Amino acid sequence: MAVGIISDIHGNIEALEVVVSKLHELGVDRIGCLGDIVGYGPNPNETVELVKQSCDFIVIGNHDAFVANCYPDFDFVGRSWGIVTETTKDLSKANKEFLKSLKPKIRTADIIFVHGNPAYPRPHCIRDYLLADMELRTEKRIIPGTDPIQARCMSRYGLAEVFECLTREKRKKVFVGHTHLGFASKRLPIIGEPDSEENLDKITVYMIKHNIPADKDFFELELDPDSKYIFNPGSVGQPRDLDNRASFMVIDRNKATWYRCAYDYEKTMKKLSVLKIPDRYKERISEGK
Ligand SMILES: [Fe+2]
Repeated sequence: MAVGIISDIHGNIEALEVVVSKLHELGVDRIGCLGDIVGYGPNPNETVELVKQSCDFIVIGNHDAFVANCYPDFDFVGRSWGIVTETTKDLSKANKEFLKSLKPKIRTADIIFVHGNPAYPRPHCIRDYLLADMELRTEKRIIPGTDPIQARCMSRYGLAEVFECLTREKRKKVFVGHTHLGFASKRLPIIGEPDSEENLDKITVYMIKHNIPADKDFFELELDPDSKYIFNPGSVGQPRDLDNRASFMVIDRNKATWYRCAYDYEKTMKKLSVLKIPDRYKERISEGK
């Protein structure tokens, strides 16, 4: 069975339409969404409607939880609240209710789907980041004032903790979104003490931005049935790896494939230009950051 995985659409209907059409062309059997359906982009209602129509399972993202007021005392979007509020001001009551109904985690016999980090309970699992790229783990990515649990998720132990979580839960794969950066991380089966140097070396990371340059539009990874994996499909509506093409993935038996699709981002930027948000939130659509 081929399953398409999308995430972080952020109200960008132009990007979502291209991705859904590509997934249908690829003939996937099911589509799952890892959240952040709204926020930042100009078409929250249209995006929620198309996700509802197209996806077979959906988990809630931090922007969705903020807009739907799921946890009133919890700060889900930090400094972005003004932009998220402005770009979702026309979201219908029915669509807010729909977002509120979404679960933070979905588990199958072998897989966990979550927006942020599966190692943590709700609501932290919705908001906490799982960063996989050493070069991105710089101080500027750690927002001053974030609480210790979030800073911990940005530490170098993030991947190892998630693999431990998979072992505890007796599952082999987890799909996360939230960072807007596509990656796969593989951990070979552990032998002996889990914390030994030998076992720490068993984690490999594949960053999609390095594997899909501008002249390519997909990257295939053969999966080892005995290893555990963490996957991030990247972002449909607001990629942040300096490639403005929409990012998503398909998993089919022992193969994972990431795709990049060009879309009419100038149309999205034009719609954003009438909203009261800083210019950098409009320009990032074209810059992929
Ligand atoms: Fe997001």
